[in-house]
Amino acid sequence: MASNAPDREVCALCMGFGVLETAQGRIVACRCQAAKRAEDRLRAAQIPERYRNCRLENYKPLPGAPQSQTVARLRALKFVEEWPGSSRGLLFVGPVGVGKTHLATAILRSLIEDCGVRGMFCDFSDLLERIQATFSRTNPDNADDVLAPYRDAELLVLDELGARRQSDWVRDVLYGLINTRYNRQRLTIVTSNFSDVPAPTGEETLVGKIGVTVRSRLHEMCDLVTLEGRDYRAVLAGKA
Ligand SMILES: Nc1ncnc2c1ncn2[C@@H]1O[C@H](COP(=O)(O)OP(=O)(O)OP(=O)(O)O)[C@@H](O)[C@H]1O
Ligand SMILES: [Mg+2]
Ligand SMILES: [Zn+2]
Repeated sequence: MASNAPDREVCALCMGFGVLETAQGRIVACRCQAAKRAEDRLRAAQIPERYRNCRLENYKPLPGAPQSQTVARLRALKFVEEWPGSSRGLLFVGPVGVGKTHLATAILRSLIEDCGVRGMFCDFSDLLERIQATFSRTNPDNADDVLAPYRDAELLVLDELGARRQSDWVRDVLYGLINTRYNRQRLTIVTSNFSDVPAPTGEETLVGKIGVTVRSRLHEMCDLVTLEGRDYRAVLAGKA
């Protein structure tokens, strides 16, 4: 009977056994196993499909883009090159579509593929929804099950911080996550649309969205990288 399983290329070196015998008769892991482990780590990281092709190499500031984009890319490259030497993560802040999530996911992917890092991507709104779903009686998970991988990840990308309407509950979840990572000295890369400095136009600031206790910890955990510029999505759509 024909199988519905997708054809997987069998490694020509080990014929799919995953191990090889050296000339001295020692059994060693085949190099395809390292690639397989990297694939497993990438799958576990849950980087959204949309950001699958984002690399630091293909983040190209548009002609005339503010210098902050070039600086942000260099800062991202430095973070990757220094791994595991960095003691602080990064906080990418800026308006919509300037490439904050692109850079953050590119760092995560690069470290997972090349440095064996166990990292996770977490969209903050999505996390809250998944925690809320555990409140239903029919859901076997509890909030701790949902949060644990993000608390423990060697590197966490926390995307869209402050995007959700704040409530005491939202602040508690965020504080619990950030404070645990702070105490465990885990590296975190954060993105947010909210400026760290009050704007003269009176728009909401990051501290207004996440509260002083979380902002204080992030000061110590992350270097601030501010991006400016046009919305790349609108540029791609020919609207800017
Ligand atoms: N300089 C760039 N070079 C190549 N692609 C870019 C660049 N900037 C943004 N993009 C692409 O534009 C799209 C939007 O970028 P991204 O999602 O990273 O923006 P963002 O700053 O996170 O926006 P938001 O605040 O809305 O979340 C993505 O597909 C990203 O790959
Ligand atoms: Mg984003
Ligand atoms: Zn092999």
